[in-house]
Parts: sequence; C-alpha cells; structure tokens
Amino acid sequence: MGIAKKISYLKSLGVNVLWICPFYQSPMKDNGYDVSDYYAIDPQYGTMEDMDYLIQRAKAENIKVILDLVLNHTSDQHLWFKQACADKNSKYRDYYIFKDSIDNAADLRNVFGGSTWTQIADGSWYFHTFAEEQPDLNWDNPELRQEIYKMINWWIDKGISGFRMDAITYIKKNFDTIESQSDGRIDVSKCCLNQPGIDELLQELKEQTYGRDEFFIVAEAPGVSEGDLERYIGENGHFSAIFDFSYTDIDIFPGGAWSDQRNWSIEEFKQKLFKNQYAVQKIGWAANYLENHDQPRSINKYFSKDQLLSYHEKMAKALGTLFFFLKGTPFIYQGEELGIGNTIFRDISEVDDVNSVGQYARCISEGCSHEAAMEAINRRSRDHARLPMQWNNEQYYGFSKEKPWIACNQVYTDISVEQETKQADSVLNYYKRMIHLRQRSEYSDILIYGDIAEVDTSNENVICYRRFTGNKEIYVAVNMGEQSCSLNLEANEILLGNYEMGNRKMIQNIRAYEAIVWI
Ligand code: NOJ
Repeated sequence: MGIAKKISYLKSLGVNVLWICPFYQSPMKDNGYDVSDYYAIDPQYGTMEDMDYLIQRAKAENIKVILDLVLNHTSDQHLWFKQACADKNSKYRDYYIFKDSIDNAADLRNVFGGSTWTQIADGSWYFHTFAEEQPDLNWDNPELRQEIYKMINWWIDKGISGFRMDAITYIKKNFDTIESQSDGRIDVSKCCLNQPGIDELLQELKEQTYGRDEFFIVAEAPGVSEGDLERYIGENGHFSAIFDFSYTDIDIFPGGAWSDQRNWSIEEFKQKLFKNQYAVQKIGWAANYLENHDQPRSINKYFSKDQLLSYHEKMAKALGTLFFFLKGTPFIYQGEELGIGNTIFRDISEVDDVNSVGQYARCISEGCSHEAAMEAINRRSRDHARLPMQWNNEQYYGFSKEKPWIACNQVYTDISVEQETKQADSVLNYYKRMIHLRQRSEYSDILIYGDIAEVDTSNENVICYRRFTGNKEIYVAVNMGEQSCSLNLEANEILLGNYEMGNRKMIQNIRAYEAIVWI
C-alpha cells in the first residue's frame, strides 16, 4: 500500500490529525527514538521526497501531520556525539553531559532499568536517561539549543502542523537531588524530571519555534502534577495538551520492575480518569489515549484475560467508547481501531523493544525465573502494539513484501483492515461511527466542547459520564465487568452501542462489557 492509499484509509476512518512516530535516520535501538540525523529520513521508511509527498497528500485530504520530536537525547551515532567522544576539546563535548568520574553511590537507574552513566574509551562517563545508545543533550548549552531550534523551524517550514514532544520534562537536570534506594540506585526521575529551571527552557523553545503561529503541540510530560498544569497547558502554557499516565500505567509501579505487578480496581481507574479530566477541563485541553507505542494493547490490560477470547470485540468497542467521548482529543494507535490484542512472546530473543530487554534483565537480576520474567514481558512489552499493521490476510498481513523486523501478531490472526471493512459490525466500523458522531454529527458541539461530569450509577464496574453544554447533554456508560448491572436511566434516543439496542427508552440494565451512548 502506498502513501496515498494509507492516507485514504485514514480519511475513510475519519482521522483528521496524523502523529507519526520518529522516522528520522536512526540505528533503531529504540524504535527510532534514537535519532542520528534530524534532517534525514531513515531509508527503511523512504526518502525526503516521500515525506514531502505524505505531507502534501495529507493536506489535500485535510489531515494535519504532526511529527515526533526527540529533543532530550540523540543516538550515540549522531555526528555531534561521535565528535564529542572523539575529542574532549570539541565544542560538541558540551552538547552532552560528561563527567570525568562518577561516584557509585550516586548512580542512577535509567528509565529502561540499567545505569544512567556509561563510560567511553577515554575513561570519562556520559549521562543517559534512557538506553546507553541515547546520550542526553545538555540543554544548558545555548549553542545546542540554537541548533535544535533551527532544526524545528526547518520542519515547520515543510508545512507540518505540530509536534509530539518526546520525554520533554527530562531536559533539565539537577544532580544535587540524590537519595539512596535499596539496591543503591535511584530512579532517574528524582533528579531529571520536571526540575526547577525547566520553564525557562520550555518558554524559549516555544518563542523560538512553534510559538510564532498556531501549532498543535502535544507533550509527553511525565512528572507534571495537577498543580503544574497551568504552566504546561494553561493559556500561556508551554504546550496545547499533555498526555496523562496515571491510568495507562495503573498496572505498574513508577520506576519499579515489571515483575512487580500492581493490583488495581475499576474504582481506582475511574478515580484517576475523572481526576485528570476535571483538572484539565479547568485549565486547558486533554490528550486522551489508552494505547500508543509505549503501551501493550488495552483490551489485555483493562479486562480479565479469561473473558478475552469470547468478548474481545465487545471489549475493544467498550474501551473505544469510554475514552473517545471524554473531553479532549482522542488518540488512536494503529490497530487499536481493529480491536487487536497482545501477541505471545516465547523468548526474549523474539522481542525488539529496548525497554522490554532491559526490564527482562532487571527481573532476572532481581531473582525472577525466566518464566516469570517472560510473563512480565508478555503483560507489558511495548512490542505488542508495535507489530506490523494488519492490512489484509496476505503474507505479513500485507504490511510489506520483505520479512519485517519482528514476527507479526500470533494471536489475533484473523483480524485485518480488509476483513473488518466488510464486516458491518466490526470494531473498525464501530470506530468510524464513533468518529462520525464526535466530529461530524449534530452532537459534535457537545462531544467536542461540552464539559464532563461523572455520573454515579452505584455500580463499581460501570463507568458513566455526561457531556453537556447549556441544557443539552449526552450520556456515556460502559460496563467494565462480565456481570450485567442495573442502571435505570432514561434515554430519549440511543446514539451508539456495542450490543443490539432496539428502541429502549429506559436503560434498565447494562450487559457484560456493554457500552452505550445516549441522549
Ligand atoms: C518516550 C517514547 O514514547 C518512548 O517510546 C521512548 O522509548 C522514550 N521516550 C525515549 O525516547
């Protein structure tokens, strides 16, 4: 499928903004989040002409393109870093964070499980928040900052409409904050996440680049608390919206090993969801998502695995309904609109994700068996969502003629765009209906701009909310459990649902994994 066909697919789905994960030249140690040249397209994806064509095709279909910007670090194969390592006196040395020696006690644990410091041939050490192939840039260096702004403006001039800012709250470091943890290593977030001084950097970044016009800037900004929201997404905030991690990371401990599975309840999920919605609606705009390239598939995370095989379509539609009508921009990750679930990895050698590999090593070093470590990988690996897109039932699901870098999904083998397009009640067609309702129906105004409030149904498994403007309102209810529950709510008209609805005026019950939208 060429670019034009893929843009047509997005158009038929109803998508109006396309966020593309990094496609820059990269050794791909971390799925392209290790950029070795910000001005080049990695040959496995195509050429700069292809990119220009993509932007132009998308524009012709009224689809805005936003790019992933990785500004906290580069690849260790970036020319700047190579020069920094080759010559201590090179100006590029100060583009990164080097130390002549490090104090072991002050060692930090990087986000992927290993140390944050790696030694090079001349004996000095460089700092990395993520993998060792991703050295952090030194944002205290004004010349480096100018290089970054120049590059962003170069992309802006190509006609893109915004950016997704990767790991942006890590750019300011403060190495004075050091506390000891049980194994002598400290979670890197303690000294590098949302640190004092970050606002000045982010303000300058905005002023010198996207602040000059209307751009949609969505930031991956871990560590931003409710109290910080005004600075980030308020009227003069740094960004248009930020992603919330509180409910997508509900099953893991921050900084913890993946083998430490965190127990959570629907009640807690609800609380986190609405806490974020209420906080954001007072101040700005939300970026709502359940899946992205860093998350396993959502049906596996949020539902009991015993029920998955019999209910997976209902579950996918239920989760879609739940997050799609929240206040804010809903993000769909490739394949989520097909209802695909996790694959199965039998051995760590089948996994490409650098975080999974690091977490596997950490689990083993902390005493887990191979089986227990693989169980954690199968629950949490980022590769579940990163598998080749399932376009049709040809070899490699029509993703490519060449063997892809990773095995295709081994579990959800019957699912494809081609098959779901034909099946009237498929997850894909349900997503089309949801998008239509939100974007282009007589209810769009309420569903886009209306406020949100939780509706208490006194059922712990039911998540219910209303969206409203003036005296108009729309209700959404989703049963996250397998038991049918009583609701007894009046409906004038049912707008959408994942079960046969009939002409119900009174919604007495909500069935297993049922989702209903009504006025
Ligand atoms: C966040 C990205 O979403 C993730 O995929 C990546 O591994 C890290 N940042 C490092 O860039």
